[in-house]
Order: sequence, then structure tokens, then C-alpha cells
Amino acid sequence: MRRGSGPQPKDMAMTRTLTSLRLALCLSLAIGATGAVAQAYDPMRPAANPLAPSAPAPDPATPEAAPNPELGDLPDGDGAEATYYQCVACHSTAIIRQQRLTDARWDYLWSWMVKEQGMYEPDDETKDEILTYLKTHFSSER
Ligand code: HEC
Repeated sequence: MRRGSGPQPKDMAMTRTLTSLRLALCLSLAIGATGAVAQAYDPMRPAANPLAPSAPAPDPATPEAAPNPELGDLPDGDGAEATYYQCVACHSTAIIRQQRLTDARWDYLWSWMVKEQGMYEPDDETKDEILTYLKTHFSSER
């Protein structure tokens, strides 16, 4: 008897859908992972890709500061240390280094981290120092 033995066409279609969903998920995870790896320090990597729409052309007058391995590879500069100690309490610096955001987005993310994640908010001077550092080094605007 055919009926009841083995998966029915409808079930098989469902199985296929699930399989391709899983595949898509794996792919996006893999892409996410390689994305993070691509952000690891590479001395041969150009400062920015001038062909990418959001990336500004590299400005030879202001070369990006060297990543400091003692600060989770955050580029050296005013506020680098404060940023490191403020932010690594919860996650690695990779999540910061891979960003290119507008100033407004950094302001928003700061409040989000404070309100939604319970980030400790330092004094205004330190907050200003960190936000200036983030807007200087991980900006889509400059
Ligand atoms: C109290 C914990 C905590 C602290 C401290 C913290 N974060 Fe986060 N942050 C999170 C969590 C939770 C997420 C979202 C989960 C994830 O993606 O790992 C996140 C995500 C992010 C993201 C990704 C947002 C996005 O759009 O995907 C950025 C960028 C970020 N944090 C930057 C910072 C910076 C910069 C600092 C320091 C000023 C900081 N975080 C400090 C908890 C924190």
C-alpha cells in the first residue's frame, strides 16, 4: 500500500523549506563570522574601500591610528583607554571596531547600552571623551 508509507508530498515540501531555512541561517551565521574575522587587524588592509558607498575616501592627512593590542585592538588615541574599560565589561571590542556609524547613532547606542543593558554611566567628561573617540574612529561621516 502506498498511502502512509514514507513522507507525503506536502511533508516533503515542508522538509525542504525547513532545510533551506536552516541553510540560510547557517550561511548568514557564516557570513557574520567571516565579517568579524575580516575586521581583525590586517596591516595590508587599506584604511577604507573608496568604492564602497558609505566609506569615505582615505584621507592621507589623517591616517588611522594603529590598533593597540593592549586595548583589544582599538586604535590608539584620546579616549581609547576609557572606551576599552567602559565597553569590554560586556562584549569584545570587535563589536565596536566593525562599526561605521553616524554621530547620532553613537549617541543612540550609548543611551541604549545604558537604558536597556544597564551600562554604568561614567561622569560627563568621560562620557564625552568616549563618544568623541567613537565618533572619530568609527564614523560613517568622516
Ligand atoms: C552593560 C553591558 C554593556 C556595556 C558596558 C556595553 N555594551 Fe554594547 N552591547 C551590549 C549588548 C547586550 C549588546 C547586544 C548583544 C550583542 O550583540 O552582543 C551590545 C551591542 C553593542 C553594539 C552593536 C549594536 C548593533 O547595532 O548591533 C555596539 C556597537 C556596542 N554594543 C557598542 C558599545 C560601546 C561603544 C560600549 C562602551 C561605550 C558598550 N557597547 C558597552 C551590552 C553592553
